Formats: sequence, C-alpha cells, structure tokens
Amino acid sequence: MNFQFTEEQLAVQAAAREFAQTELLPGVIERDEQQKFPAEQVKKMGELGFLGMMVDPKYGGGGMDAVSYVLAMEEISKVDASASVVMSVNNSLVCWGIENFGSEEQKQKYLTRLATGEVIGAFCLSEPEAGSDATSQRTTAEDKGDHYLLNGTKNWITNGSTASVYLVFAQTHPEKRHRGINALIVERDMEGFVVGPKENKLGIRGSDTHSLMFTDVKVPKKNRIGEDGFGFKLAMATLAGGRIGIAAQALGIASGAYELAVKYSKERMTFGVLISQHQAIQFKLADMATNIEAARLLCLQAAYDKDTHQDYTKSAAMAKLFASKVAMDTTIEAVQVHGGYGFVKEYHVERMMRDAKITQIYEGTSEIQKIVISRELLK
Ligand code: CAA
Ligand code: FAD
Repeated sequence: MNFQFTEEQLAVQAAAREFAQTELLPGVIERDEQQKFPAEQVKKMGELGFLGMMVDPKYGGGGMDAVSYVLAMEEISKVDASASVVMSVNNSLVCWGIENFGSEEQKQKYLTRLATGEVIGAFCLSEPEAGSDATSQRTTAEDKGDHYLLNGTKNWITNGSTASVYLVFAQTHPEKRHRGINALIVERDMEGFVVGPKENKLGIRGSDTHSLMFTDVKVPKKNRIGEDGFGFKLAMATLAGGRIGIAAQALGIASGAYELAVKYSKERMTFGVLISQHQAIQFKLADMATNIEAARLLCLQAAYDKDTHQDYTKSAAMAKLFASKVAMDTTIEAVQVHGGYGFVKEYHVERMMRDAKITQIYEGTSEIQKIVISRELLK
C-alpha cells in the first residue's frame, strides 16, 4: 500500500475540508437540534462532485478512486455526520449498484442524475422484521409479465423523504429464499408509494430516516437490476463497499472529536496549569490519536483493496468494526476532556458522541461485521 497520497487525492481532501468548514460548520448545531435536513449543503455537495465521486465521468461522476472517497468522507464527517451519510448512501450504495450491475438504459436514465446530485438516491433493504437477518425479506415483488407489483414496508431508510430514486429489495420467489429476491428501481412519484413520518433519532438528526410503504406499486420490469433473483447478491456486494464509506464516516467523527479535545486541552486551566499538562489528559489524547491512526490505516487498506480490484469484503468489515468502536470511544473521551462544557451543545462533542453510535448499527451492526469477518477467515 502506498502511504503517499497523490496530488489529486490531496486536492480532494483539501476541497472537502474547505467545504466542511465553510458550508457545513455554520448551522450544524441548529440542524441537529431542529432535525433539519441539510438541503442547501447537499445541493452544493452535488455541484462540487461529492455525490458521485467514483462514478465514471461518462455518467456524470468524478471518476475518482476509493482512497479519495475515504479522504473526503473523513473531512465531511469531522463536521457533520448527517451530511456525510447522505453522501455515503448516494455514492456507495445507490450509484455503485446501478453503475456496476444496471443496464445502459438505467445508467442513462438514473445514474447520470444521481452522480451529479441532481437527484438523491436511497437504498431500501431493511424491514421491520428484517434488519441483520436481511434474507428474511417480506416485501414482495409479484411478477406480472411486463411489471412487478410491489407490496410491503421498508424501515429506517436514509434519504427516505428527499430521495427521488429508490433501490428496493423485494421477494419474488419465496421458495428460492434469498435467491428469489430482486432489486428494483422505484421512483418517488409511482402510485401506491407512501413515505412515513421522519424518525426522531439519538444522532445524525439532520438526516431524514423514514419508513416507506408500498401498496400495489407497479414497477416496470426494465427497472429490475440484473437477472431475476440477483437482488440479494447485489445488496451484499454493494454493502461491502458501503461499509468502507461508513468506516470513513466513523473515522471522521473520531478525528473531529479528537481535534476539538486537543484544542480545548490547550485552552482550559485547572490547578494553575492547562489541562493538557495533566498526564491523565495527555494519556487520553495519546490513546485517541493511536486508535484513530489505526482506524485510518484500516479504512485506507479497504479502499486500496477496492481500488486494486482485490476482494475487500473482509477489509471493509474490519475497517467498519474497528473505526466505529474508535468513534464511540473517542467521542466519549472527548466529552470527558471538555468536562461540563462537553455536555452542552455549543462545544460539538456531545453531538459527535450521539452521532458516533449509529456507525456501530447501520450497514451491518458490529456483531454482523464479526460474522462477515469470521466467515472470510474460516472459508
Ligand atoms: N458479495 C456477493 N454476494 C454475497 C456477499 C458479498 N460480499 N456476501 C454474501 N453473499 C451472498 C452469498 O454468496 C449467498 O448467496 P448464495 O447462497 O447464492 O451463494 C447469499 O449472499 C446469502 O449469504 P449468507 O448465506 O451468508 O446469508 P446469511 O443469511 O447467513 O446472512 C449476513 C449474511 C452477512 C448476516 C447478511 O444478512 C448481512 O449482511 N446482514 C446485515 C444487513 C445490512 O448490513 N443491512 C444494512 C442496510 S443498508 C444501511 O444500513 C444503510 C445505512 O444505514 C446508511
Ligand atoms: P436486529 O437485526 O434486530 O439486531 C438487534 C441486535 O441483535 C443487534 O445488536 C444485532 O447485532 C444483534 N444480532 C442480530 N442477529 C445476530 C446474530 N446472528 N449474531 C449476533 N448478534 C446478532 N437500512 C436500509 O436498508 N437502508 C438505509 O438507508 C438505512 N439507514 C438507517 C439509518 C438509521 C439511522 C438506522 C437506525 C438504521 C438504518 N438502516 C437502514 C437499518 C440498519 O441497517 C439496521 O437497523 C441494522 O442492519 C440492524 O437491524 P435491526 O435494527 O433490525 O436490528
């Protein structure tokens, strides 16, 4: 693995940092408090090319590598994890799936608009009874010849109300179990599609998480991605890459909290000295920095594996498992370094602590990452 970033990768990192500091930082506390979706900021992210970073330029994307994507995700997540989850879902779950497995017609119709951020996508796998146990899909896509009839409910869908294009997984042949699942592209205005109320969450409160209801939604057969029954494989393959994005999000939350803790420790005096002079505080900072560096290397390893066309299932799961724990541990300690000030909103670290938790849950819980890793080790 090359530890030297290219000029292009450094430029992407600098652009993401600049965008996060100038466009995301102002108002991040209010958006969290009011559960306000960062609509204007997401629009600008599209204009700057952050929503289709790895998509081929012929479909409107940036044609960048996964390492650049990790660097950008880290910078944006340092400031606003609600904005970075929109970026992660659009890039690595929706664009990636359509680009790698969709038909040319689907790419022309949907990918070009998703990659530029003209429209936003959502990835709809989880259901009330099928989260970790994702093969137990109850949503059905009945084959009606030239179309599918879609019925069921999806839960916890990120970009639920702001998306225009939804990748929906549904069971067509229950007797074939996961091999009977299809992936369908559903448009927001298709009849029978209803978006439920927004979830009131612990963290990433600016992101819009909704349940979705489908009642006899007619989805043209040409909107199916891949062969009949390919849907579950598509979901699993897509999630392997998605986990690199969430690992980078966790890394960003951790490094954002760490930077604030260092800064604060050099400002706050107790017992006549800066708190950074107390060894207890120094050791916290040393642990944070070491863990963050290890998480960064795992994220970059997974991105490197993806860029060099190696199997990245294990490295992505390891990166997500480790970085999400580092995010949780680091943000808790960053609050501690801030003392009482860490417990109030204006110092940011309490939000980061709340945001960190989701990285251990979505795109496969930490327990699921251990299942994925151990299966890879033992196969
Ligand atoms: N690539 C391609 N195919 C894969 C794969 C991969 N990386 N991993 C598994 N598969 C295939 C298997 O080959 C198998 O197919 P065949 O039988 O045809 O060979 C099929 O998937 C089923 O695999 P398993 O038998 O391993 O299935 P399982 O029931 O034991 O479950 C699991 C495996 C890893 C636990 C899986 O269900 C899983 O990942 N669960 C977590 C779901 C998840 O991550 N959800 C996230 C939703 S999206 C989200 O959360 C977005 C967000 O927050 C922003
Ligand atoms: P469960 O599967 O019920 O798990 C409950 C607990 O049991 C967990 O600790 C889990 O790790 C553990 N567990 C379950 N099975 C095992 C096992 N075999 N071995 C050991 N432990 C086990 N989904 C989407 O499809 N698209 C999205 O955009 C999306 N965005 C989300 C946004 C938010 C804010 C949230 C909260 C969730 C989102 N999800 C999304 C859903 C998310 O992926 C699921 O919540 C997650 O996969 C866990 O599923 P579950 O909630 O049903 O928990």
